Amino acid sequence: MDTSKPNIARVYDYWLGGKDNFAADRAEAERMLAVYPRLPELARDNRLFLARAVEWLAGRGIRQFIDIGSGLPTAQNTHEIAQTAHASCRVVYADSDPVVVSHAAALLATDPATTAAVRGDLTRPSAILADPAVRRLIRLDEPVAVILAMVLHFLDAATAGDVTRIIAQAIAPGSYLVISCGSGDEDTGGRLANEYAAGTLHNYTPRQITGFFGGLELIDPPGLTDARHWMPGQPAPTPSPDGGHILAGVARKPG
Ligand SMILES: C[S@@+](CC[C@H](N)C(=O)[O-])C[C@H]1O[C@@H](n2cnc3c(N)ncnc32)[C@H](O)[C@@H]1O
Repeated sequence: MDTSKPNIARVYDYWLGGKDNFAADRAEAERMLAVYPRLPELARDNRLFLARAVEWLAGRGIRQFIDIGSGLPTAQNTHEIAQTAHASCRVVYADSDPVVVSHAAALLATDPATTAAVRGDLTRPSAILADPAVRRLIRLDEPVAVILAMVLHFLDAATAGDVTRIIAQAIAPGSYLVISCGSGDEDTGGRLANEYAAGTLHNYTPRQITGFFGGLELIDPPGLTDARHWMPGQPAPTPSPDGGHILAGVARKPG
């Protein structure tokens, strides 16, 4: 673990008010706050979106979840929401960062019968889906929710499109894809993408993010909206073209 350089998961942890971050992460997080002070608020909105989406999906009968780019443990983790809604839910956390995975294994995947944490690179989605630890808990011939929250913007557009298409093909009819992604105007989204030093950040338009649903049926209303406003079945305001946003949506594979 190199603590001298800012790290994606730890910078985000700082914005969420967590303690799993070091001086380099805090410096980077503060530098980005100088560009856009609303980042912590947007990060919290994203976590609340995730909780609402997981609870809603459990209410729709989804019992298995794969959370890719899951990040450091925080409040209201996916398995806590899902298993509160329905005790039999199984959740696999996957992340490319080995430190994130070891934290998730120690703090989140405490019941091997229902939870697991695996190291996996989203740019190789088939390898994640084929991982024995994923296969132990997740049946791909049954509906599953795949969560890609605040991670697709670390992939270039072509890769993000390929990845979501592969996932959309691999999951059973009746499955869901949950996406949240950064998006903003040039002054904010463009500047954040240019200046962020913890990783390569891309600034996507709402149209590009809608395209990442890989042809699945977007739950609409609310469609793709600010994470804060995502509430299934309820119309949401169209995101303003100004400033920075975390856009969120959930789509279903028909059948
Ligand atoms: C901003 S955090 C998001 C955490 C959580 N999903 C959320 O929305 O609250 C992004 C996470 O994606 C992970 N990540 C970045 N690129 C990835 C990749 N190619 N494959 C898997 N995980 C990745 C980072 O390590 C980090 O933990």
